[in-house]
Amino acid sequence: MTTPWYHKTSIYQIYPRSFYDSNNDGIGDLKGIIQKLDYLHELGFETLWISPFFSSPQADFGYDISNYTDIASEYGTMDDALQLIDQVHKRGMKIIFDMVMNHTSDQHAWFLESRSSRDNPKADWYIWRDPLPSPLRRGVRGEVPNNWKSMTGGSGWHYAKERDQYYWSSFLPFQPDLNYRNSEVKKAMLNIVRFWLGKGVDGFRLDIFNVLYKDAEFRNNPFAFQLTPTETNPSGFFQKAKYNLNQPESFAFAKELRAASNEFGDKILLGEIYGDRQTTRRFLGDETNNGLTHAFDFEILAFKFNANYFRELIKKIEAHYPNPLMPVYVFGNHDRRRSINRIGDDLQKAKLIHMLQLTVRGVPCIYYGEEIGMTNLKQPFAAALDPIPHKFKFIPPFVFDMIGLTINRDEVRTPMQWDGTKNAGFSSAEKTWLPVHGNYKEINVEEEYKDANSLLNTIRALMKIRNEETSLQEGTLEILDGLPNGVLGYSRKIGEEKISVLLNFDNLEKKIRINFSTCLFKLSDRKDLDKKTVHLNGLDGVILKISTTERKKAEEL
Ligand code: GLC
Ligand code: CA
Repeated sequence: MTTPWYHKTSIYQIYPRSFYDSNNDGIGDLKGIIQKLDYLHELGFETLWISPFFSSPQADFGYDISNYTDIASEYGTMDDALQLIDQVHKRGMKIIFDMVMNHTSDQHAWFLESRSSRDNPKADWYIWRDPLPSPLRRGVRGEVPNNWKSMTGGSGWHYAKERDQYYWSSFLPFQPDLNYRNSEVKKAMLNIVRFWLGKGVDGFRLDIFNVLYKDAEFRNNPFAFQLTPTETNPSGFFQKAKYNLNQPESFAFAKELRAASNEFGDKILLGEIYGDRQTTRRFLGDETNNGLTHAFDFEILAFKFNANYFRELIKKIEAHYPNPLMPVYVFGNHDRRRSINRIGDDLQKAKLIHMLQLTVRGVPCIYYGEEIGMTNLKQPFAAALDPIPHKFKFIPPFVFDMIGLTINRDEVRTPMQWDGTKNAGFSSAEKTWLPVHGNYKEINVEEEYKDANSLLNTIRALMKIRNEETSLQEGTLEILDGLPNGVLGYSRKIGEEKISVLLNFDNLEKKIRINFSTCLFKLSDRKDLDKKTVHLNGLDGVILKISTTERKKAEEL
């Protein structure tokens, strides 16, 4: 079986609001992305994932959609979207949209209608429940239908007086969940997917795909001794998220969605899924991978910078995503702290983790600005545009810092730093929608192009190798044993081609005996490479070609 393109691809996430502003209103837009396509093409990533730019009140910056087949005017027009698809394809690249299937905006015509009465044609399109009677408090509105907590904390039930009922919302109150048990809803959403696939989109990133279905009986969640959800365990706020997410019907729906997308050929379906690996795995379907094509493996977002951590992680990932499945390696996105923040803004360490990400067996997915080492920009909760910090403004921010949670997502969504001019070259507006990070004079694309050792040029070089070496795109992975402490090593192999990667997570120099034919890449200078021993400096890495045929030739000489 040949490996499908989407298992060999590499993904670059664009947050359109912050990428490039073509008309200088301070907000990034679709034309802006088009203007930067050559940069992205040259960088070497094949697939662009664009965060939502559909019509929306922007209460959650596009993750609250009010019309799935129209474009928010601040981002452009339908024509711009079609141009974007076309221009990406002209460069031999792919483009995936962000599909928010779980919920709409509360301003979507469907919801306005649904909320208006108990018996309108869309009355059952969202999840409505009667209040529970509150016998002790007569004359008071009834209680919420059950104890479920939203993903952002607090009850996810919200009262609508028009119906004297509660609607359910997994995320924020203005994002009501659609009712997938209603066949018309399912049909409408699958048709939206078809609409965009018909326009040539190469697939979707699927927003909180694991919460689509809820327990049919709305049973109460059991107690759990867990305050905050983690990357791999969505339970929290002292309850086990047993009945409001990761339901069997959602696993089944993944297959239905795949069948619909298959009508358009080989398309990517990349799920945002919170759960342990057994659960995540179930969204991918049977052994033949007839569900989603990929799911993010989010454990890595909370990575620890050491060889043992990554060795164990890779082993677990390999065990859960064997061929024909393919894992996704992601260090950051628009919801989580920037990856470099976790390693103390250390550029050398950043080079090493990206070296891993771009050579390990899996689809790498990087977040705009990660390639130049953009850092978090601390901003006060009270001034946040992101709605989430407003829920938590009574808790001092250092509490979240201590547990390593980025509550204010504005911090990771600041404008892309293109050069050292006004607003980092993102926009010439007086005021950009979020402030530009003060470090833009040093950290920007133009500066880093000039420096051969910059993170940007390191990533470009690595991408070039990845794009040339089939073994890195689709080869098997084997962990190398017997390496010095602090060094992680693995080989990637396909047919006669073999590549070994050695990564030194330690600050001390290491010497390793290994037979190789060519050194494809080394982070630090290449002194002492004699084809039998490799000297790795502290925080150094090397990619070696180990070609059996070449070695034979050499022996014969
Ligand atoms: C996902 C998105 C996030 C959004 C939420 C609600 O987690 O990544 O940005 O706020 O879903 O749609
Ligand atoms: Ca603009």
